[in-house]
Amino acid sequence: MANAGAVFRRGALVERPAPRNARALHAYLLALKEHGFDAAPVPVGLTGDGREQLTFIPGEVALPPFRDWVMTRAALESVGSLLRRLHETSAAVAVDSRAGWSRDLADPEGGRMLCHNDVCPENVVFRGGRAAALIDFDLAAPGRPLWDVAMTARYWVPMLDPGSAAGFYPSGLDAPARLRILADSYGLPPRDRGELPGVIEQATEVCRAFVARRVAGGDPVYCQALAERGGWERWDRMQTWLADHRKTFTAALLR
Ligand SMILES: Nc1ncnc2c1ncn2[C@@H]1O[C@H](COP(=O)(O)OP(=O)(O)O)[C@@H](O)[C@H]1O
Ligand SMILES: [Mg+2]
Repeated sequence: MANAGAVFRRGALVERPAPRNARALHAYLLALKEHGFDAAPVPVGLTGDGREQLTFIPGEVALPPFRDWVMTRAALESVGSLLRRLHETSAAVAVDSRAGWSRDLADPEGGRMLCHNDVCPENVVFRGGRAAALIDFDLAAPGRPLWDVAMTARYWVPMLDPGSAAGFYPSGLDAPARLRILADSYGLPPRDRGELPGVIEQATEVCRAFVARRVAGGDPVYCQALAERGGWERWDRMQTWLADHRKTFTAALLR
């Protein structure tokens, strides 16, 4: 949505609007590669007209409404283990604290490691039904690894009330069971499991505030999406549903 209509493939390259902090992001992506992480685009350069070039990653990227293959158990497990691999590598890369990282979806508590922050289906390249790579690091920022797990859970479980998920996700997804599968495939330590439902609520507030800023700024893509999806009432419903089911999620994670 952010770069709607402005991302192009040119053969082996993708060209897209360069984020403000493209130089720092490119250095980060190159450091990931040097540390052996091969599941992200490799930056190729910046053009004179404010665009960036990255390697194109072959595969499939899901768009809503998400088909059944995107929400299989195997797909979810592959997302969890890919996020873990990213975090293990990311933890080894020094964060450039002067880089001006995006605040849009950043962990309000900060952190020593760069998180992706936007691991939604549209930002994961699949091959053979498994997550093969993460793309679109525009919203990456320092944060707790748990924050990135929470953001990923929002989109991949998804952590949405059934009414809000309808129309985007296949029906009948078992949220507590899928949250557990994500935590297991990520290898989330026991001490973080008890905290995860609360952090998902915090992440939902941050996502809502992000949408509110875009809408207040008159961004037509976000205004239209908000209206089509049921306005702020939908956000109220999502937040109530998370709070109402907090104990169920915690029990599923710790069982
Ligand atoms: N490096 C890449 N390799 C493969 N596909 C890509 C790559 N970059 C972008 N895409 C495709 O273009 C779409 C939009 O690109 P993205 O960078 O996510 O833009 P936006 O900022 O609008 O979300 C993605 O969902 C994906 O399908
Ligand atoms: Mg994207």
